[in-house]
Amino acid sequence: ARVAVLLSGRGSNMAALLYAARLPDCPYELTLVTGDKPDAPGLALAEAEGVPVVRLPAYKPKDKTDFYAALSEALDRARVDCIALAGFMRILPADFIDRWAGRIVNIHPSLLPKYKGLDTHERALEAGDAVVGCSVHEVTAELDDGPVLGQIEVAVLPGDTPESLAARVLIAEHQLYPRTLAAFVMRERTPEAKLARVRQAAM
Ligand code: GRF
Repeated sequence: ARVAVLLSGRGSNMAALLYAARLPDCPYELTLVTGDKPDAPGLALAEAEGVPVVRLPAYKPKDKTDFYAALSEALDRARVDCIALAGFMRILPADFIDRWAGRIVNIHPSLLPKYKGLDTHERALEAGDAVVGCSVHEVTAELDDGPVLGQIEVAVLPGDTPESLAARVLIAEHQLYPRTLAAFVMRERTPEAKLARVRQAAM
């Protein structure tokens, strides 16, 4: 499957997806890396690794429509099957999600449905949680809300700070995302999934 990664920042999850894609038998390849910030370190990393990168003009709320039109064009040109959000800090518009229904996944640093949105580790520590973690989920119009495809639990240690927790959860994220994406694209290949897509397109 041809996968596009959308990111806004450092791109460590993009790197985890990319390096896993270089292993034998990985059912996906990264055919595009792009995002809303042309100077994101993750784009430079993808480029250095030889992955096609498209630098869209920096996202500005007033030019939102242009941004998503340019993004859609880049995705079409790269003949992308699925989109993997990896630290992409924008909420996708409903019509964009509709068009890609069932073909967008995201990684989130909490055990969903707990702690949707930002500052997940601060909130987990404040709540006194003994276990935190990360989730990969399908993207729907509701923020961090689509069906959960996979999770890894991470223990909270005495003295953990939001930063120390984030660092350990990130190790788990890097394990979770490539495997879950691989399973997701395999699922997408089943006759049932193809039929569902045809039906969706006809609606
Ligand atoms: C990760 O913690 C991810 O779960 C969240 O944003 C962060 C992105 O980090 N959505 P990176 O850019 O992949 O290093």
